[in-house]
Amino acid sequence: MNTEIKKFAVLGHPISHSLSPQIHSLFAKQFSINLEYKKFDINKDSFLENVKRLKHEGYYGLNITLPLKYSAFQICENLSERASLCKSVNTITFEDKNIIGDSTDGRGLINDLDKKGINIKDKNIFLVGAGGAANGVIYDLILNNPKKIFLTNRTFAKAIEMKAYWQFFADKHQVNLDVIDSNFKTKFDLIINATSASLSSLEPPIPLTAFDFLNVNGSCYDMMYGIKTPFINASYKKTNSVFDGLGMLIEQAAESFKIWHQLNPKTIDIQVDLKNL
Ligand code: ATR
Repeated sequence: MNTEIKKFAVLGHPISHSLSPQIHSLFAKQFSINLEYKKFDINKDSFLENVKRLKHEGYYGLNITLPLKYSAFQICENLSERASLCKSVNTITFEDKNIIGDSTDGRGLINDLDKKGINIKDKNIFLVGAGGAANGVIYDLILNNPKKIFLTNRTFAKAIEMKAYWQFFADKHQVNLDVIDSNFKTKFDLIINATSASLSSLEPPIPLTAFDFLNVNGSCYDMMYGIKTPFINASYKKTNSVFDGLGMLIEQAAESFKIWHQLNPKTIDIQVDLKNL
């Protein structure tokens, strides 16, 4: 057993329900790594001073969750291309004098889809939402070569803005991008809910007719976890291939773990292990 204790934490608000400390501890156990992983409830105003304090206290790295991912993007001195384009940081590493930022949400989503046997290459994806969560995963969706990504959002102008922002990157990877309101024509292979609608609404964030455009072998994925959302309930009326974001949470944590420890943790049993804790 390595006796050096590396210190980590997750910062966000609210934070009490975060599973990150348990997930990272379960990963660490796989390699007999001795680590401490705390959670801190931090607001945007005191974010920078808290990051500096934790750096000073010898923390090795931080996970950043809602609503601080954009603030983290703003304060990092060194960003991965992914974090820079997504304007989102969920993984901070302190290295000498530098604060280094990366975003592992998109890889988390792709790895989870992969584990569930969903390959998006040449497929039509309907990505719902144009906020931080949607912008945080679209980079990796594009990198995995779907045929087309349709964007929509309650405030439709934001979907148009999002398309314009990602157009160059999508063209570079020969992926079609489009916006769609309620005039559905093409069948979708995967509908992803990247909105926070379930926190405030009893209705799914897209019209119910959208689910009629799901291919027979299509899937629905809600990036939220822990609650049976209206989106999940509506999805089940069309398919049994319905997933919440718990797998993504575990996979994004695994990607952070890889950045910090250069080790690839097994994620397969973590959902069961979490239930048994
Ligand atoms: P996040 O970082 O979680 O994406 P955000 O940037 O505030 O948070 O974005 C929240 C997303 O959920 C937005 O796409 C928002 O739509 P608007 O841009 O119109 O606000 C979407 N959203 C929130 N509540 C919603 C609701 N009740 N119905 C549909 N979409 C909703």
